[in-house]
Amino acid sequence: MYTIAFSNEKGGVAKTTTTVSLGACLAEAGRKVLAVDLDPQANLTLALGVEPTRVVHSTASILLHDLPLRQAILPSSVSNLDLIPGSSETSQSERYLPVRERYEYLLRDAFQQAALQYDFVLMDCPPALGSVTLNALVASNLLLIPTQAEFFSIYALKNLMNWVRRIRSEYNPHLTYRLLLTLFDRRNRIHRLLSEQLRSNFNNGVLETVIEVDTKLRESPIAGAPIIFHAPKSRAAAQYRALAQEIIAYVEKANLQPA
Ligand SMILES: Nc1ncnc2c1ncn2[C@@H]1O[C@H](COP(=O)(O)OP(=O)(O)OP(=O)(O)O)[C@@H](O)[C@H]1O
Ligand SMILES: [Mg+2]
Repeated sequence: MYTIAFSNEKGGVAKTTTTVSLGACLAEAGRKVLAVDLDPQANLTLALGVEPTRVVHSTASILLHDLPLRQAILPSSVSNLDLIPGSSETSQSERYLPVRERYEYLLRDAFQQAALQYDFVLMDCPPALGSVTLNALVASNLLLIPTQAEFFSIYALKNLMNWVRRIRSEYNPHLTYRLLLTLFDRRNRIHRLLSEQLRSNFNNGVLETVIEVDTKLRESPIAGAPIIFHAPKSRAAAQYRALAQEIIAYVEKANLQPA
């Protein structure tokens, strides 16, 4: 089981869009996928066609009430793709988690106890580096950071990198990260310039695949279906399929490395 957290404290950089689109593409490629909604906005839950107000058990039930993780898993509209939904109660987690003992490890321990059979667990984090995101990163193999090629987005990465260093030294020494360029516009000179800078600063820390601006991606959550079903022939569908192949290759290579 390989666990990926999608996080960036910057809002609106396509964390949720990437979680749902990549999740569907990995499922299409025959992998068993569990998507986990850790954001009280519950956008991931909605995008997978589940109404958050009707949710009985959410990620908050696991984090705050010790619900066995398996009991919160729902099937989604996509085969091979299951969901642990978010709900408005998820906002309580941010506040009350730190009161709990060893709270940083609650999600990691819940996964270990559940002994699940998924190939990939994808966790969509809220746009904040708080106690919930900390739980996700402690439980993850890989931090995937969607980012725009905009000045403020790149500036925000500094803080995120400091966080990664802290998490590695205090909680999860094996955490790796990769940056993913999203909402990219090839005709935009600043985008081209900043993406080149990003690649020269981070080297192979930036994924090859780039997700360009595509309005079809804005429509797919309204349809409650991931992009590969909503617009299977769109550029965004092709790019998220390419991302799935890149991630599969990355994980296979990582698994070959000696521990
Ligand atoms: N490649 C793209 N092209 C066009 N629109 C996109 C693309 N990726 C995401 N969007 C749109 O941008 C908006 C923000 O995306 P999304 O909700 O995935 O970001 P987020 O990082 O999860 O936001 P938040 O920080 O609020 O959780 C959404 O309206 C989404 O449909
Ligand atoms: Mg989101």
